[in-house]
Amino acid sequence: MPAPATRHGRVWTWLDERLGLAEVERLLKKKEIPVHRHTVWYYFGGMTLFLFLVQVATGILLLLYYRPSAEEAYESIQFLMAEVEFGWLIRSLHAWSANLMIFALFVHLFSVLLLKAYRPRREITWASGVGLMGLALAFGFTGYLLPWNELAYFATKVGTEITGAVPLVGAFLRRLLRGGEEVTGATLTRFYGIHVAVLPLLTTLLLGLHLFLVQKHGMSVPPGAEQHGEGRRVMPFFPNFLLRDLVGWLSALTVLAALAAYFPAELGKKADQFAPAPIGIKPEWYFMFMFQTLKYLPSYILGIEGEIVGVLGFGLGGVLLLLVPFLDRRAARGERSRLVTALGLALILYMAVLTYLGYTVSPTK
Ligand code: HEM
Repeated sequence: MPAPATRHGRVWTWLDERLGLAEVERLLKKKEIPVHRHTVWYYFGGMTLFLFLVQVATGILLLLYYRPSAEEAYESIQFLMAEVEFGWLIRSLHAWSANLMIFALFVHLFSVLLLKAYRPRREITWASGVGLMGLALAFGFTGYLLPWNELAYFATKVGTEITGAVPLVGAFLRRLLRGGEEVTGATLTRFYGIHVAVLPLLTTLLLGLHLFLVQKHGMSVPPGAEQHGEGRRVMPFFPNFLLRDLVGWLSALTVLAALAAYFPAELGKKADQFAPAPIGIKPEWYFMFMFQTLKYLPSYILGIEGEIVGVLGFGLGGVLLLLVPFLDRRAARGERSRLVTALGLALILYMAVLTYLGYTVSPTK
């Protein structure tokens, strides 16, 4: 019997000649992860990616039963939960994994912010990340309406009403989102299309760019660790870091399965467009800090409606976040930028306190 052509054997050689496996192997072997006291934060991008993949898998299964119309959406989910084997579990996994993914994404965002991973030449890695955050929030907002229950219906009414406060284009935006003047079956069908086609397509493209850039530039070493002479020690990505990643993903899967099994997603009452709004409508937790901020704003600020000022403020906040790599000139020069660290920590504190207040202050409207 002739000896295999390489140490990988014939099948590998056959595939390599056609697919270029050796190049992939070379890439994997070249990738290294710096080892220093902040290495733990490098796991959160991968964790977000893992939870996103859980979303894709469970979302496709939900698609097999879900019907996107005001007449059938609620009933199709009732059927899924009561009749379809493990239907309740798939739905709960999708709902919980969405929350965990956004949490992991926030941890990833704030860790790369505080570790100044956006310094040159990772500006576009950062900007694509901000885009991915916008897409993740849009996934959450559109997905919330799909069960067509009372809570989701009124939260969407409030949420889309807020877009109406954007100057000049607000009314147009609100109509575009709602598919008319009111939240109706047309809104549901629209949100469905956005949730299962538009957002997955945009996310795939942007995620492709994000991961390509991460691969191209390698992992950054935070300035603090660099100054302490750390970060010269490295660990191979394959298999050392990837195996550690896998431990993290399995742990996340365990937490996810426990949450989904012990606290299954609820369905509540079917939406009734003509019923009065229930007391204490709440958005998803990741929108709560904005919702609560709008509640605290006075009716008028310098003659402009408080809500308009608030919405403009959040828009400006998003633009500033996108521009962080260009605004933080000190970090770009390799100096310490305590101001960005302080602002980042203040933002985390602000979001946490306002979210807490959102859940504890008694509802008035
Ligand atoms: C769906 C959402 C996202 C996914 C799946 C994702 C995935 C990843 C992965 C796998 C890495 C490499 C490992 C790591 O550093 O954790 C990474 C790195 C990075 N991400 Fe993300 N990310 C997402 C969102 C974001 C957001 C919201 C931002 C910030 C605005 C961001 C900014 C960055 C930066 C700057 C790096 C480079 C880190 C370094 O070189 O040290 N990403 N991302």
